[in-house]
Amino acid sequence: MTFVVIMMVVFLATISTAAVVDGLVPPSHVQAIDPTKVSETPPFDHPGLRKVADGTYEAYYVARIFSFTPQHLEIPAGSRVTFYVTSADVEHGFSVPLTGVNTMVTPGWVSTVSHTFKTPGKYLLVCNEYCGAGHQLMAGDIEVK
Ligand code: CUA
Repeated sequence: MTFVVIMMVVFLATISTAAVVDGLVPPSHVQAIDPTKVSETPPFDHPGLRKVADGTYEAYYVARIFSFTPQHLEIPAGSRVTFYVTSADVEHGFSVPLTGVNTMVTPGWVSTVSHTFKTPGKYLLVCNEYCGAGHQLMAGDIEVK
């Protein structure tokens, strides 16, 4: 019993030290945001697609129960898109099946993931973290033309 308690204390001390002293956060969560002020915080006050250069885009998404904003995105085939996603309420998922786009969306953080859409078509965007009674309705699409 004593050994178990000592191990627990060592374990918690190690995690706390890493979190507080080294500032460790979950992977891909590099930018912080106040989740109660998402709709007033640029660029999330106007979510959507931004053209960075020919073939390079940034897409800003807000996830909230039970929808994504924007719901629909159109991009030219061959485009490289970097998604910046944050949540205005609870933990959500952001997944585009059959691509490498799959990240958790945690309130307070901006998740980032990039993908080059080579093949034209309509891609489904889904929430793959259970977020409440309407979770299964939380979806959007990305049209690659
Ligand atoms: Cu959002 Cu499930």
